[in-house]
Amino acid sequence: MNLYNGVQIPDVAFGTGVIKRFYRNKPLYFKDRTISVLKSVKHMKIDRILKNDITIEKVTEKAITHGYCLLDTGRLYGHSEKIIGKVTCDMCRDDVFIITKVSNVDLARYKEAKTVRENLSISLENLCTNYVDSYLLHFPCGDWINMYHDIEEEYKAGRTRSIGVCNFDIEDFLRLKKEIQIKPMICQVELHPLYTKTELCEYCKKEGIVIMAHTPTGHMHNKICNSDIMKRLTKKYNKSIAQIIYKWHVQNGIIPIISTVSVVHLIENLDIYNFELTGSEIQEINALNENYSFDKNNNKMNDCPNFIYNV
Ligand SMILES: NC(=O)c1ccc[n+]([C@@H]2O[C@H](COP(=O)([O-])OP(=O)(O)OC[C@H]3O[C@@H](n4cnc5c(N)ncnc54)[C@H](OP(=O)(O)O)[C@@H]3O)[C@@H](O)[C@H]2O)c1
Repeated sequence: MNLYNGVQIPDVAFGTGVIKRFYRNKPLYFKDRTISVLKSVKHMKIDRILKNDITIEKVTEKAITHGYCLLDTGRLYGHSEKIIGKVTCDMCRDDVFIITKVSNVDLARYKEAKTVRENLSISLENLCTNYVDSYLLHFPCGDWINMYHDIEEEYKAGRTRSIGVCNFDIEDFLRLKKEIQIKPMICQVELHPLYTKTELCEYCKKEGIVIMAHTPTGHMHNKICNSDIMKRLTKKYNKSIAQIIYKWHVQNGIIPIISTVSVVHLIENLDIYNFELTGSEIQEINALNENYSFDKNNNKMNDCPNFIYNV
């Protein structure tokens, strides 16, 4: 797939946002870890957060080995930028597409980086590179129009090959359009079978903006997993529910940000290129839509539950 400025972008991404809770705040980290250990003992199974914490570096390494070349991170995701930097620093830079993000919270949070420029400098250092492939505004919050202007400057300076936004709705785009020189090339939003955002997708398509789906499986919600259409399609194509969902995104021209703490799952999730859903099957999955957002009460700061910052 190509962005409107001609930059090529892979059609699936690997997301590293799961580790966002950690390292920001030591007491919170230890609290989270203790809860995870207790849960693991209670259920006699390693809790997902604990597993992720232990395996994230290995999982990111494996993701690259197994063919993921688009890596999604953000200043908000704790040590994820550093892990990506460590894992990719010996690679040919052209073989990996790296996305990172900046938010108003980052500007307020870091003493050493009060501007977008300073934040990107730190991201670049963490990522062990001198440019990113895309730099995104994480939320339309705070002084976001001016932050977007600063992101435009980074694009002009060649420190990012493309720019974009996250968690926007059409009104945000319309407002931005009046104020800017360079249209976003990418828009990252919550998108899954329970929340298909048809109007936003049509708007972005018309404007030539590529959509990336975060929360692409809708956290594997029961309403998706137990639906008749999923039961039918998993049987027909001999694929898992996750594979059907990712394929649905790809066939809709949307880049799913695949996120898993399991090496088995990450391999499985790339095995989606040997079958095609029919037009009517895509429509049936679209029909699961309930405008159900996992983030809707979160004041657009999807990646940013208050507890991370209210400490
Ligand atoms: N820009 C933003 O504001 C924003 C917001 C949120 C997220 N993001 C990005 O989007 C990424 C994805 O978000 P998310 O984690 O919320 O996505 P998600 O698709 O809702 O969650 C992934 C879930 O799917 C499961 N899964 C994946 N493959 C599977 C398989 N083959 N079989 C069974 N279960 C499977 C995972 O479990 P297992 O781990 O057990 O496989 C996990 O529970 C993040 O990492 C981040 O990079 C961006």
